[in-house]
Amino acid sequence: MMKKRILEMLQQSPEPLAGPEISRRLAVSRVAVWKHIEQLRKSGLEIESTAKGYRLLTTPDTPLPYLFGERSSRIHYYRELDSTMNKATVLAREGCPDGTVVIAEQQRQGRGRMQRQWQSEAGGLYFSIVLRPGLPARVCPVVNLAVALDLVDSLESCCGIAARVKWPNDVLVDGRKIAGILSQMEVEADQVTFLNVGIGINLNNQPAVADKPAVSAIQLTGRAVHRAGFLADFLHRFEERMAAFSPAQTIAAWKAQSITLGRQVKIATLRETCEGLAIDLDEDGGLVLAMADGTQRTVFFGDCFHQEAAEGRNGPAALT
Ligand code: BTN
Repeated sequence: MMKKRILEMLQQSPEPLAGPEISRRLAVSRVAVWKHIEQLRKSGLEIESTAKGYRLLTTPDTPLPYLFGERSSRIHYYRELDSTMNKATVLAREGCPDGTVVIAEQQRQGRGRMQRQWQSEAGGLYFSIVLRPGLPARVCPVVNLAVALDLVDSLESCCGIAARVKWPNDVLVDGRKIAGILSQMEVEADQVTFLNVGIGINLNNQPAVADKPAVSAIQLTGRAVHRAGFLADFLHRFEERMAAFSPAQTIAAWKAQSITLGRQVKIATLRETCEGLAIDLDEDGGLVLAMADGTQRTVFFGDCFHQEAAEGRNGPAALT
């Protein structure tokens, strides 16, 4: 409680706050303030000691646990991690509760799908949620679809951005990626012990556009996003959806937001590729393809490239 109040004061103060001033406002001794500051530092926060007092090296939108109200005991914030997925796995194996969230300001080894790296520049929002959904493993891909839908809704309500979903797990704005989802689970006798869903959202960062087009919220709107507010909005939506989780409803909602269905697509796994017309999503979140030979095939995993009709152009069809 005391640490929460100290953090609140520091985060809201534009100037460094002197120890005696903090002890006066909280009516505790200077030694007590110093001890709390040391404990906050040990928990990974950077608090600078200047001649004028203490200064917290965060911005007002930094998603510090105390900003999340009754959820705060399940929020773990780190300035830097190798990957939030690794930390979430450690916490999950130690038995942390459903809905535990691990946030990192920066990741040294942020992971993307298909063994790719996820660049984690400052200003983005990078977190993993530990879920104990009490569901069979087969349903977990549908949980990822639910995450994508709630990200679309949060982008709309917090930033006024109209995003859509791309199979399997991407959130795009006009063909450019604004958020990605990666999940890992551990299973016992077909029941999920935990499912860790890792989410990277380009909010106030300038994403590197290496081989795939990407965009951030600030690039689209010119306005910085309050990242803690965004995360609170998303967690609230997602918690509500999971409390009354309906795979069938999620699939239907996903289809309505999809930019994949109705497109000619190429699906690449680590071992093979196939091409077809994306015609449906099955009850487990698999993508149903109509193949050129008239057969149907359902794919559950892989990278999906949308093939644009190359009308009026001679070069190869563009892929997104
Ligand atoms: C993808 O689109 O390839 C998935 C990207 C997932 C990135 C997030 S950032 C937070 C979490 N930690 C990671 O190492 N990866 C996920």
